Amino acid sequence: MTGVSDQFERRLRDLRISVTDRCNFRCTYCMPKEVFGPDHVFLPRDQLLTFEEITSLVRTFVSRGVNKVRITGGEPLLRKRIEELVAAIAAVGGVDDLTLTTNASLLARKAAGLAEAGLDRVTVSLDAMDDPTFQRMNDVGFPVATVLEAIEVAVEVGLGPVKVNCVVQRDVNEHSVLDMAEYFRGTGHIVRFIEFMDVGNTNGWRLDDVVPASEIIDTINSAYPVEPVPANYPGEVARRFRYRDGEGEVGVIASVTKPFCGACTRARVSAEGMLYTCLFASSGTSLRDALRSGVDVGEVIDEIWAKRDDRYSEIRSSQTSRIGTPVEMSYIGG
Ligand code: GTP
Ligand code: 5AD
Ligand code: SF4
Ligand code: SF4
Repeated sequence: MTGVSDQFERRLRDLRISVTDRCNFRCTYCMPKEVFGPDHVFLPRDQLLTFEEITSLVRTFVSRGVNKVRITGGEPLLRKRIEELVAAIAAVGGVDDLTLTTNASLLARKAAGLAEAGLDRVTVSLDAMDDPTFQRMNDVGFPVATVLEAIEVAVEVGLGPVKVNCVVQRDVNEHSVLDMAEYFRGTGHIVRFIEFMDVGNTNGWRLDDVVPASEIIDTINSAYPVEPVPANYPGEVARRFRYRDGEGEVGVIASVTKPFCGACTRARVSAEGMLYTCLFASSGTSLRDALRSGVDVGEVIDEIWAKRDDRYSEIRSSQTSRIGTPVEMSYIGG
């Protein structure tokens, strides 16, 4: 078997690559306007990894054991000619699941090219079924209907069924749980309700704003009875439930109330090539510098992974303060 295990015997299996730190939404829980306003400085374009560099990194990560790659952002479809990157990654071989997480604003026009380039599927973020709530959350007035249309296009070109991510916040979109369950049951799409996480520094997270996954499941279960289903693979982020009437499945991502660090096989690379071994990391290592200075990147990755002892979500409750400034969600890609 290739690659090394970390301090808790976790191997490296998944790679999440952010291709831009920009986004055309300003979700209040991710890029609040007060912080990500007109004067906010994003990464300069010449700091971004080129497609050749990203592809070279993917090749190296695959040689270290990665078989699952997710492209993230910010909003990854804002990166110009993203289809070319998808095609280059698909051509590497050894990646069994090549996916992308998007807000779907540009998906309808990009879906066919992405499918043709070799993308296996997409995950779409959608936080409500009604415009007032969704628009309050994305904070740029983006309508629900455009997201739903994009999902249909994705299905037509073979990128479906899709997973739909819904971040649930107390007193903001709790009612979306039933609205979304109702809409997506029976469609083959899988909605995953995500506990609002304390990622980054700017989203004003409070424990009181988290709706526990157990409560989300109880809400769904009382309207549409569900039962748990075993994970698709060890360390799956979402816990799965199926509707007892056979109308498909839903998931919950309980990173706050039921952390899943024990089986976390994920590495993250930012758009400028920083490698992070945890979503909540405050420091990383520049693979871009390693690449550009001709260092053996495989060795760098092995060394970092062998030392890895991150389990932020599991120890969060016992922490009184954080060490350093954690990176932002829009920078690290979720
Ligand atoms: P699948 O492969 O389709 O199951 O995707 P996924 O659930 O791994 O990825 P996605 O990008 O859809 O992420 C869903 C939610 O889970 C997002 O809110 C992520 O930030 C969160 N998430 C993904 N990986 C981790 C992780 O390692 N730790 C924590 N705490 N949250 C994660
Ligand atoms: N907590 C939970 N999920 C979040 N996402 C963004 N910010 C947060 C947060 N603070 C979700 C997005 C997207 C996924 C990659 O992460 O909605 O679906
Ligand atoms: Fe953009 Fe996604 Fe963050 Fe919303 S959650 S601001 S769509 S990156
Ligand atoms: Fe992995 Fe860090 Fe998330 Fe735990 S908190 S599951 S170690 S990324």
